[in-house]
Amino acid sequence: MPVSLASLEKIIRVAGDIALGQFNDLQNLEVSQKSPRDFVTAADIAVEKFLKQALAEHYPEYGFWGEESGKTENQAQRWIVDPIDGTHSFAKGQYFWSISVALEIDGELMFGAVFAPALDDYYCAKKDAGAFKNGQKISVSSEDDLGNSMIATGFACLRSYLEKNNLERFCRIAQATTGQRRFGSAAMDLCLVADGQVDAFWEQELNLYDIAAGALIVLEAGGTITDFKGNNGVFPKQILASNKGILTELLTLM
Ligand code: IPD
Ligand code: CA
Ligand code: CA
Repeated sequence: MPVSLASLEKIIRVAGDIALGQFNDLQNLEVSQKSPRDFVTAADIAVEKFLKQALAEHYPEYGFWGEESGKTENQAQRWIVDPIDGTHSFAKGQYFWSISVALEIDGELMFGAVFAPALDDYYCAKKDAGAFKNGQKISVSSEDDLGNSMIATGFACLRSYLEKNNLERFCRIAQATTGQRRFGSAAMDLCLVADGQVDAFWEQELNLYDIAAGALIVLEAGGTITDFKGNNGVFPKQILASNKGILTELLTLM
């Protein structure tokens, strides 16, 4: 069966129900630590197990790479999945977490979907066919003055106790902008750029499964995806998503 945004949404919404079932029963949620600052819950495992099985059943020609279960043989045409992006937020009962699913074929992102079940917000995009939120076309903001902008970031770098981290960059950019946010789900951060709710997002030391779907959604919404020097491309170790209007000014502070 060919992949379509509609068929993908049906599968991902079932995954959302699985996640919400555990989210609504947090007192019984099993939580373990992959490392001192990195959590995984039974919801992450259950959602990824469902998505791996359902995507293989509907689209047997594609491989799979999930954050929790790793890679199958076919990595040339693969689903790239973060079953719960924002696990720490999920475990604390906060609403800002998401399920991120992307289809990459021979290195090209073709489909991306980011679903926030607790907010019931579903973002998706198909290459060269636009970006959507809850079925409505979306686009990045028209803000072109960095001083008036709202930016979002994250601190994955602190998870690995990196010396070269995001703190000085954050202080520089925070003093040059009007609003700063740290929502806790990189996949959702990217969707907020695509929807014009924030004007730019950057983070370092992520993984491709955190950003693959969100990056396509930003690009299809008319935004840019670069590294911190402005090179176009999806670079998990250095991702900068923008509305295009503030990119030049922002790059001088990265
Ligand atoms: C995390 C979220 C968070 C980012 C972390 C990621 P996870 O994903 O995207 O916003 O700052 O670095 O690891 O671990 O909850 O899937
Ligand atoms: Ca993640
Ligand atoms: Ca995750």
